[in-house]
This record gives sequence, C-alpha cells and structure tokens, in this order.
Amino acid sequence: MADAKNQIEPAETGRFRLLYDLGCAFAARIELDELFPFIVNKCREVFDAEGASVLLLNDEETELFFPYVADADPGVADRLRQLRVPSDKGIAGSVLSSGNGVRVDDVASDSRFFAVVDEATGFTTRNVLCAPLRTHQGVIGVLQVVNRRAEEQFSDDDLQFLEALAGGTAVAIENARLYAKVKASEELLRVQVGALRRDIVHRNRFPDMVGNGPAMNEVFQLMESAAASPITVLIEGETGTGKELVASGIHNAGPRADAPFLAVNCAALSETLLESELFGHRRGAFTGATQDHRGLFEAAQGGTVFLDEVGEMPTSMQAKLLRVLQEGEVIRVGDSEPRKVDVRIISATNRNLEEEVEANNFREDLFYRLAVFPIHVPPLRERREDIPALCQHMVAKQRTVSGCNGITDEAREQLMGHAWPGNIRQLENEIERSAVLAGRGGVIEIAHLSAKVRNAAPAASVTATPAAPAISDGEDPTPLREARATFEANFIRQALGQNERNVSRTARVLGLSRVMLQKKMKEYGLRDE
Ligand SMILES: Nc1ncnc2c1ncn2[C@@H]1O[C@H](COP(=O)(O)OP(=O)(O)OP(=O)(O)O)[C@@H](O)[C@H]1O
Ligand SMILES: [Mg+2]
Repeated sequence: MADAKNQIEPAETGRFRLLYDLGCAFAARIELDELFPFIVNKCREVFDAEGASVLLLNDEETELFFPYVADADPGVADRLRQLRVPSDKGIAGSVLSSGNGVRVDDVASDSRFFAVVDEATGFTTRNVLCAPLRTHQGVIGVLQVVNRRAEEQFSDDDLQFLEALAGGTAVAIENARLYAKVKASEELLRVQVGALRRDIVHRNRFPDMVGNGPAMNEVFQLMESAAASPITVLIEGETGTGKELVASGIHNAGPRADAPFLAVNCAALSETLLESELFGHRRGAFTGATQDHRGLFEAAQGGTVFLDEVGEMPTSMQAKLLRVLQEGEVIRVGDSEPRKVDVRIISATNRNLEEEVEANNFREDLFYRLAVFPIHVPPLRERREDIPALCQHMVAKQRTVSGCNGITDEAREQLMGHAWPGNIRQLENEIERSAVLAGRGGVIEIAHLSAKVRNAAPAASVTATPAAPAISDGEDPTPLREARATFEANFIRQALGQNERNVSRTARVLGLSRVMLQKKMKEYGLRDE
C-alpha cells in the first residue's frame, strides 16, 4: 500500500508537467494572446475535459465574455467568443460574487446554472469546475473546465488544482495588463519626444543656449563639429559657464539624440558608489548589493555618458575609465565578464586638467583620451557682449514665473559691469531674485539688484590695473621687487574682493593654484582682512 501511495500517478505527472510548463510560460510570455490559448488547451488536456475557457469581466463589470476558449468543436468555441453573459448570472457569476471556486457535478439540478449559454452555442454542459481569477483589484473573471470525458466526476482535488492554476493565471493577467499599460505610455512618449525633438531641431540647433558674441559663436561652431562625430569631448570652463548645457547640446544635435544622455557628477559620490554607478555591480558584490545592477555605461547604450567634474575622479577609478575608453567594455563590480558598450563620452571640468596631470593628480594617458576634442567655455566677464541677450532670455523666463515685465537700461548696464565670478548661473540667480523684488507687472531697476552688484564700479574687472606705486621725482625710487610686491598685494586684494573672498574662485580667476594663492595671501597679510 505504502509503495503504491508513494508512486506518482500518470495523471499527477501531467499536472506537475503543466505547472512546470506554466511557470516557464509565465516567465517567458508576457503577451496574453499567446499565454491564454496555451493555458486553456492545457486545462482541457489535464482535466480530461471537453472544454475549457477563461471568462473576463468587461470594464463596467456588468458582463462576462469568453476571450479564450478551447473546445473540441471549433463552432462551439467561435459562438462562445461572440457571447456576452450578465456578470451576476450562472455558475461563473456566483464564483465572481463569492470569490470561491465551485464544483457542480450535474448542472441540470443546480439552480445557479444559466442555460442561455448552451442554447446559444448548441453545447450541452453536464458538469463544471469553476475557479476565480483573483488579483489585487479583486476578482476579474473565472477559469472554468466543463464536461469531464471519463466516467468519474471531477473531484475536490481537481477543483483545488484548478484554483491554484487560476491563482497563477490571474497574476499573469495582472502583469500583462500593467505591461501593456507601460508599453502604451512608452510608445506615446516616444512619439511625443520624437515630435518635440524634431520641432526643437527645426527651430534652433542649440535652443537652450543664448549668446551671439564672437566667443560664444566659436563655442557653437565647435559644438556643431563635435555633434557630427562620436569624438570624445572635454569641456573646460569655470563654474556656471554652461558646461552641462554644452554637453547636452552636443548630444541632442547629433545622431545619438534618440538614445539616452546620462550625467554623473564625479565629485558627488564616494569612490565605491561612483564605481557601481558607472559600471554597475553584481548581486552580492558588496553589502546591500541585493540585485544585479546595470551601470550608467550600460544604461546609456547607444547614447552619451556625461562625466561632470571629471577632475575629481579618484585615481583608481581613472584606471577603470581608461579601460572603457580603450576597450569599449565595462566590468561590473564583483564580476569578471567584460560587457561591450557603445557610448560616447563627454566630460567636463572646472579645473585645469593639464596642471592636475603635472601635479600627478590626474593620469596623463586618461587626459589625452578624454581631451581629444577640447571645448573651452569662456567666463562671462570675457563675453560681456552676451549679457544683454542673456538678460532678455532670463527676464522673458521670469515673465511666466514672477510676472516681472522687463529690465531698465540702467540696470542692464550695471549687470554688464559686474565681474560675475559665478558666471551665467550667478547672473541667472541675480535676475531671478530681482524679478521677485520688482514684482508682478514691475520692471527690474538698479534698486532691485543685490548690494554686491549694485555697488560694483561699472565695468570693474580684475583686468583693470590697480594703482601702481609711484616713482617719485627726487626721492629714491622704490626697488622693483618692493614695487612688484605692492602691486601684487593690491591686485590680489582686489580680486579677492570681487570674488567674495572665495579662495578657489579667486585662484582660478588669477590663474594660480589654490596653494600658491594661499601662500601669497599669507605673505602679504591678506588672510585676515
Ligand atoms: N549660453 C547660455 N544661455 C542660457 N543659459 C545658460 C547658458 N549657459 C548656461 N546657462 C544657464 O546657467 C546655468 C549654469 O549652467 P551649467 O549648469 O550648464 O553650468 P556648468 O558650467 O555645468 O556649471 P558647474 O561647473 O557649476 O557645474 C544653468 O541654469 C544654465 O541653464
Ligand atoms: Mg555642471
């Protein structure tokens, strides 16, 4: 006896097989139109039934329809597919409302039976197994098999098995519906993005960028050339000069525009995070790596990766980046298998990378790989001619935000005179702030500008020479070394004043390293002023 019990019946083998097949099908097939014919056909087989079908509720939940039917007689199946049944009628209706599966051995003696279906199809239902399709949104339909072909009736075990199948089927329906929704919205977005992009390209090659002076025209020309090829670009420029705009402009104007533009700030992440962000990681590569993860290089496939503040990249990461540039492949953290990537690399820095190479902070070989096509974005003080157009662009933006209506000529001239150590971003902030002060319907006047900008001497710039020590007649002339020191101290003092005493920024403006500037500040006693 015991042996006989332990043996798996042939019928059970069929069911295990079906569960296995369904598992594979759920995993592999996401389209309902492929999945359900498979399920109903298999149900007919393993339950040894004449027919099997899926009944689903319509959107209003008033009717049930038969989207998927398997029946020995194709005519019956066709007629069923045309049929609509009130959702509160019949055995299916009772399963829908109770949420429990039902086994009926003799439908003729069951009051719930809805004979209209048989009348319409010419089929004679004798017995039924019916199980609910239960999802997070409630019961959305039923899975049923009818007319056991063999002598004996459907059993309770059969019903339990059908309920288990219906459970898995409902999850598949839910997933497929979600998938269809996402796919539809993705398609819609793709069409919209395509239309918008064509529109933008039509209007202007670099629509977000304003500037009509010779310095910016040169930048635009370089951007055009870079966009036309997959060449690796290095954008250099002070903070706020528009380096990121240049990078995205090149991407958007080139043949990769339909693929992603993914930016990463190399200064913002720790070394470990940066590596996993860029290259991805394997599940279990480190604590917290609970899943395989694609890095930016893989995610940007066909597109562009923008490495912002690349000068801040730790040296060990520089070696790994070099590998991507040389081999065109990445290795996920914790993995050994290299994966091919096709991405364009654009990087940006506000440091002088050549100096960093000399100071051994940046790998020389990587520098030459990154700086194949350098683009220098000039600081705003070297292209003051762009300030009126920038003002117009920014004030126009403010019209919709704060309701401010314009700017007076005097205020614009005052803006043109400022040194703008924070460049366009600072100008943008200044206009935003003064537009709020000017208020709805108002116009930006000098009084609305911040004290720093308002009080700056017109056209003040570090290029204006501070008073040199005089060589007075009759007296001993000041020794050159002393005169130079006095001049240098004044010059640095003035630059510090114009740059809000920000040492890094002042050093950049003066073309000195931070360390050198600090040394000179100490030497001239400028540190505590
Ligand atoms: N030519 C331009 N026309 C209009 N707006 C600009 C222009 N250049 C920059 N901007 C604006 O100035 C701000 C700073 O630009 P962006 O972030 O590209 O500068 P960045 O050089 O990357 O700065 P950082 O070095 O601080 O990262 C942004 O709001 C950008 O939209
Ligand atoms: Mg930036």
